[in-house]
Amino acid sequence: MKGLILSGGKGTRLRPLTHTRAKQLVPIANKANIDYCVEDIVRAGVTDIGIIISPETGEEVKAYLGDGSRLGAKITYILQDRPGGLAHAVKIAQPYLENDPFIMYLGDNLLDGGIQHMLEKFNKGGVEACILLTKVPNPSSFGVAVRDPSGKIVRLVEKPKEYISDLALVGVYLFTPKIHEIIANLKPSARGELEITEAIQNLLEAGFVVNAEEVRGYWKDTGNAADLLDANRLVLSRIEREISGTVENSEIVGEVQIASGASIKNSRLRGPISIAAGAVVENAYVGPYTSIGENAIVKDCELEYSILMQGSRLEGIARRVDSSILGEEVRVLGEVERKNTVQFFLGDRSTVKI
Ligand code: G1P
Repeated sequence: MKGLILSGGKGTRLRPLTHTRAKQLVPIANKANIDYCVEDIVRAGVTDIGIIISPETGEEVKAYLGDGSRLGAKITYILQDRPGGLAHAVKIAQPYLENDPFIMYLGDNLLDGGIQHMLEKFNKGGVEACILLTKVPNPSSFGVAVRDPSGKIVRLVEKPKEYISDLALVGVYLFTPKIHEIIANLKPSARGELEITEAIQNLLEAGFVVNAEEVRGYWKDTGNAADLLDANRLVLSRIEREISGTVENSEIVGEVQIASGASIKNSRLRGPISIAAGAVVENAYVGPYTSIGENAIVKDCELEYSILMQGSRLEGIARRVDSSILGEEVRVLGEVERKNTVQFFLGDRSTVKI
């Protein structure tokens, strides 16, 4: 069994963050999204993992994950030179996958319940694919599956315009090598891509069995800012208190992780919160579901339900900062100079709400 993680994609809905980084590297509770995917596959006992990268963000993904040994994996990178669709990614990965069954995992998905339950059933044999499903309120944005009353998968449609089911395919699939034969005969869809949903539909039409499991716990596709904050909340809701950094004259309540080298002074912290190495929190209130990245500074302000990335700085803000995402090295400074004026220096497509 091998793993295949897709890490191409432009992440347009996460701009401006994704102007400068791959969306799979956006941090959630101070770990890149793709780390969680690799960990999930390794936890299921699969350590040979191929990662599909794009020419735009591939080098950055490579530099971040390296050979995978940090996560107990052996990673091979596979370049997809154009966004040809999920089935196109499988096609170009075939020389790597050879004749092995494989797990395909979209690198911007976040799963809580893992994939072991899926794998156990699949390994019993008799099926050519297994998909993971969950009910969604907006099925027209996904691939969806229709089941008959006995639960058997009978039809799959990519982004159906008319309602046929609210069971969406989340980005995790198990395949036998049979899928390669099907993909070899696949034609591009209306959006010009080789669709994996259509390939699985073709498996069904050819008389093969496709199994389905439902998501356990939560699932999140971290496509936009609100989803990212929610993903951060979900991961933080599972953390446990661990204080390694220095804490001085501060009140810390609940599940708070403070990495060694971080410093907290004259502050009130209400978990769950993750604070990375080298971060400084001073004269501040930090509320639930907040992640503060490496070497970030939070001073003279109140902050909650937010993500501050590496090296960002929030200082002297009179009002509580809520539901906010600050990218790397972003600075938001309050009334430190002239009162009653605001001054901005924002990159393309930034958002400021006052
Ligand atoms: C892709 C798949 C779709 C699936 C979704 C899950 O959509 O084509 O079937 O439901 O991922 O995140 P895309 O992200 O390409 O729009």
